[in-house]
Amino acid sequence: MNREGPSNKKIEGFYMYRFIDYYHNEVVLSFDDHPFSTDPKHVWVVCRYQNKWLLTKHSDRGYEFPGGKVEENETALEAAIREVKEETGGIVDTIDYIGQYKVRGKEKMIVKNIYYATIKELITQEDYLETYGPILLEEIPHNVQKNRQFSFIMKDGVLLKSLERIKQRFLTNVSGT
Ligand code: GTP
Repeated sequence: MNREGPSNKKIEGFYMYRFIDYYHNEVVLSFDDHPFSTDPKHVWVVCRYQNKWLLTKHSDRGYEFPGGKVEENETALEAAIREVKEETGGIVDTIDYIGQYKVRGKEKMIVKNIYYATIKELITQEDYLETYGPILLEEIPHNVQKNRQFSFIMKDGVLLKSLERIKQRFLTNVSGT
């Protein structure tokens, strides 16, 4: 990937970015309305709390924005709100759909919704499940792709392009993000 990241192409009516991730899997990303599935089984939530990015520290993967799998009898939006609380203790104030991506893994294909959430409160949890709980960062480091503290899910064009979109849509007056 070059400095600007992958380029945007129109495929079957949707604008999409295509690239290869940390594990050499193919990823297709789009900021259009649910291009791959209306009922995705995975969610990822870029969170902001008190002018900082709110991440979690996953016990194996390291720092990442919270997310996970949609449970049965739950919508993707409900899963997003639940995962933020479970992994960071964050109570969602506002949440917006940003886009969707598809990863062609070695064994299966997954589709993930990307959300942007603002957090109104951080409540200490007794158990953060498979994570060590909240991490607040002023900035996502520029070398995130080479930084061993960060999870592989923060190391491809999904993060780069999602942050670009979020800054354009929601953070135009905020410096230092
Ligand atoms: P189980 O079904 O519980 O065993 O889950 P799993 O460990 O196989 O992982 P999951 O179903 O969440 O994802 C399957 C594969 O997709 C993973 O091994 C990753 O390679 C890939 N994957 C999952 N989430 C992401 C993501 O956010 N970004 C990228 N690039 N790849 C992902």
